[in-house]
Amino acid sequence: MDCYELILSRRTVRRFKPDPIPDEVLEKMVDAARLAPSAANLQPLRYLMVTDPDIRARIFPCLRWAAYINPDGNPPPGSEPAAYIVILVDDQAGGGFYRYDVGYACENLLLAGLTFGVAGCAMLAFDPKVIVAEFDPPDHLRPDLVVALGYPDETPMAVDRSDTVKYWRDDNGRHIVPKKPLAEVMYKNGLSRD
Ligand SMILES: Cc1cc2nc3c(=O)[nH]c(=O)nc-3n(C[C@H](O)[C@H](O)[C@H](O)COP(=O)(O)O)c2cc1C
Repeated sequence: MDCYELILSRRTVRRFKPDPIPDEVLEKMVDAARLAPSAANLQPLRYLMVTDPDIRARIFPCLRWAAYINPDGNPPPGSEPAAYIVILVDDQAGGGFYRYDVGYACENLLLAGLTFGVAGCAMLAFDPKVIVAEFDPPDHLRPDLVVALGYPDETPMAVDRSDTVKYWRDDNGRHIVPKKPLAEVMYKNGLSRD
């Protein structure tokens, strides 16, 4: 699959096979994140790999999955993530634009993962107190995003729809993601539709 097809086919995955992800793969994913664009090249992000089963078991309950279809989007027992990468922001690195950096880094991470067959879910809906209690980071290092990862055990699909933003599960339990059609989001040489 070429890069363009990979980008188009990437979907958020919330059900995973139990197979572990090799550390070398996770390291390559973090390396891809590390090299993402960074505003003023301040590089304020840090990446915490979590593969330990006991720590994963303590993190899992602090995550909130697929709010529009809760609880149907929760990974069923046995389908939990095989790893997490917690993206932390180092306030000492400065810069008010770190959120852009997180977005770029996370997408690099996810796309790099796909080249090794690893999929995932970026998660803002987590309880940072649980992460802080687990890892006791210094005050200047704040957990910003949790990326749940694993080998996919579902194949979500995107469909062009402009009438809703709410994803759903179809009759076969497949996760369907509505995406606004290209003609609705793109303009050429001005903002008129004529
Ligand atoms: C910044 C950000 C935060 C997200 N947080 C969550 C989350 O907390 N829980 C969750 O299940 N999905 C989360 N998602 C995944 C979105 O629900 C998903 O990207 C969206 O439904 C579109 O699906 P797609 O990624 O397959 O295109 C998040 C995505 C982004 C970009």
